[in-house]
Amino acid sequence: MVKPRSGTMILEHDYRIGAIDDRLYGSFIEHLGRAIYGGIYEPGHPTADENGFREDVADLVRELKVPVVRYPGGNFVSGYNWEDGIGPKEQRPRRLELAWRTIETNEVGVNEFADWAKKVGTEVMMAINLGSRGIDAARNIIEYCNHPGGTYWSDLRRSHGYEKPHNFKLWCLGNEMDGPWQIGAKTAYEYGRIATEAAKVMRQVDPSIELVACGSSGSGMPTFADWEATILDLAYDYVDYVSLHTYYGNRDNDTPNFLARSLDMDEFIHSVIAICDYVKAKKRSKKTINLSFDEWNVWFHSNDADRQIEPWSVAPPQLEDVYTMEDALLVGSMLMSLMRRADRVKIGCLAQLVNVIAPIMTENGGAAWRQTIFYPFMHASIYGRGTALLPIIKSDKYDSNDFTDVPYLDAMAVLSESEEEITIFAVNRDLEQAMDFECELRGFTGFAVQEHIVLEHEDLKAVNTAANPDNVTPHNKGNAAVEDGKVKAVLGKASWNVIRLAKVNR
Ligand code: AHR
Repeated sequence: MVKPRSGTMILEHDYRIGAIDDRLYGSFIEHLGRAIYGGIYEPGHPTADENGFREDVADLVRELKVPVVRYPGGNFVSGYNWEDGIGPKEQRPRRLELAWRTIETNEVGVNEFADWAKKVGTEVMMAINLGSRGIDAARNIIEYCNHPGGTYWSDLRRSHGYEKPHNFKLWCLGNEMDGPWQIGAKTAYEYGRIATEAAKVMRQVDPSIELVACGSSGSGMPTFADWEATILDLAYDYVDYVSLHTYYGNRDNDTPNFLARSLDMDEFIHSVIAICDYVKAKKRSKKTINLSFDEWNVWFHSNDADRQIEPWSVAPPQLEDVYTMEDALLVGSMLMSLMRRADRVKIGCLAQLVNVIAPIMTENGGAAWRQTIFYPFMHASIYGRGTALLPIIKSDKYDSNDFTDVPYLDAMAVLSESEEEITIFAVNRDLEQAMDFECELRGFTGFAVQEHIVLEHEDLKAVNTAANPDNVTPHNKGNAAVEDGKVKAVLGKASWNVIRLAKVNR
């Protein structure tokens, strides 16, 4: 018999990474594919409310407890005229949407999205167009959204039925402006300048907002690192966060290598923090720039299908990745990468939320269901709030094609605000063997296991579909228990684990 692998963790009461900002568990909805039309909004659907929003989808979004949703793009925003989406629906223009080569009907715009956000209990993280437009549109949209009244744009909003301002607090200054695919792509200098000037006028309209500057669209971009340093050099005093985006795939079906990709995410975060702090030192500034990881996920399954889609249709099925069990494992690890740097990563947006590379899928006129990745995201969003603890982890390791010393055990722990609950999140990256897991609790007395949730499946390629929506679902039959101040559990091969502890003895 093969001996199970071992992985250990030590949690010490006073070893803490820092408070987790709830917005770490945000998401993203773009005017792309069926995210809006056929996703959150479908007036003819049996569950549609009086505004055309699907209740079945809203229920699933509420299950995820998403604190903030980035909108309306993405690449889409760089060609978007936000004014097209306000006022009477029948007068709104149909436009060629150049980023994704579709037709945008503009039935949903900023006011409808604000209504939907209220309905599902989330905040809006609004992105402005710094591709085809500039500071004039930037100052107008914020006046329309956030100014109480008595001016042209704020009174126009009131005339559209929104007496009170939306008061969006978080704004993205464009999207992926370094990408050659981006409408109105810019050099770092050009972007640093326009971001600064847009930030100035926006803050003049509403000084209470927070602003996110575009970092590189990925760490693989040739301009990566220099881009961040240059744009921050120009915009440092005017912005609060810099953005990071990353997507991973398993195109060559090398799963051990795929599951190690979160190490790349750790490195990416580390590098961007270093750049922010380099610029801080250079400027002798007292201000710290934090990170907004506002696009992250697995994305590759739909690439071939997308190439077959004819251009210029309304809401085609674009970027509809059907996620596997192994994708859920990597998403779990990526969530832990965010928690691990909760001291600096304040915002995270799983890209995206519905139909488009999303945890929630729908059929037009039909069902809505949870993809495999829904579960680790939901667990992190519900149980991963409070303080990220600083764990000491020991684990057997492996080498993969792109990574060396990949720990089989990937784990993190979060202490709830009341300090009465601890949740341990863990992925066993070993595809062949279970792991004997032990976690020593130092300075935490009286804790017992409440639940050990496990997501696992014999077939790593297993998926959930409309016909079989519960093929991959978590169970709570994990065997974690506390013995002599240690949590002991067997972590199944290739599994995602959530071990929930609560203080039972005082
Ligand atoms: O999320 C899909 C796309 O990925 C976004 O529109 C863009 O910002 C990124 O390249």
